[in-house]
Amino acid sequence: MSGMCKIVVPATSANMGPCFDCAGIALDRYLTLTVQNSHSWEFKHEGDYLPPTIYYEDHLMYRVARTVAKRKGQQMTPSTVTINSNIPLARGLGSSASAILAGIELANQTAHLSLSEDEKLTLATEFEGHPDNVAPALLGGLVLSTPLKDSTVVYERIRSLDLQMVIAIPETKLRTDEARGALPTSYTRENAAHASSISNVMVAALLQGNYELAGTLMEEDMFQEPYRSQLIPNYDFIRTTAKELGAYGTVISGAGPTMISFSNRQHQQQIADALQKLLPTYEVAMHSIDENGVRVHVE
Ligand code: HSE
Repeated sequence: MSGMCKIVVPATSANMGPCFDCAGIALDRYLTLTVQNSHSWEFKHEGDYLPPTIYYEDHLMYRVARTVAKRKGQQMTPSTVTINSNIPLARGLGSSASAILAGIELANQTAHLSLSEDEKLTLATEFEGHPDNVAPALLGGLVLSTPLKDSTVVYERIRSLDLQMVIAIPETKLRTDEARGALPTSYTRENAAHASSISNVMVAALLQGNYELAGTLMEEDMFQEPYRSQLIPNYDFIRTTAKELGAYGTVISGAGPTMISFSNRQHQQQIADALQKLLPTYEVAMHSIDENGVRVHVE
């Protein structure tokens, strides 16, 4: 990168109900970094979703970038990084995954690392702890991913899904560690087998374009939703309302507290309008799948 670049990373919604820590879908909602080479490092925050600007050495994106560049034995060119985000923090829309990927791409651009997508995915998974948000944020679309025993991350990207989304974001935040803390530490063989069956058939239904069945199975998750539902405001109300208005299914987005409804384009608007009217303190938004993942424009 010789002078300036723009890094764009999508928001993501993980789990899709029963695919816990495995599935994630990229949304057309973005974190954007404008990077301008400079004599020193500076991070500037713009937009309503970001906290006040902090000293660069404390910034997550800088810390990720510095670690990546150091590991590759390269120096980054100091830069002024202006960050604009439409991804709210601690709402289950992959804000930390997008920040980590932005940091990796920042190192890639300012230290000329030429990282491959697989390297970026492995690094991002290491920072995030699991690949379900970082994989779709990097690659776009719906991605099913898992680490192998040797820590390699393998994935399949499912293309051409005819799905639209409505997200309902409450004012309250929910920390991922709290939402993970609500889950059992182990499952019985019977429960694990049944929960996996639901997850497997849900993915098969998506692959076959049987969205009605996929939506039904999304709402049958046994791994996490039953334990987290009490942490999510209006959980039952949003599911029932969206279903009545034609949603295939509604699930917790990632660790919550945002809820995400999947529907066809015809029903998306009426679901969004009704939820916004019934839940006026929420931010309700319509989204499509982002099919691109991280994008970099070098100027
Ligand atoms: N799969 C994760 C969870 C997503 O549900 O806890 C949030 O990082």
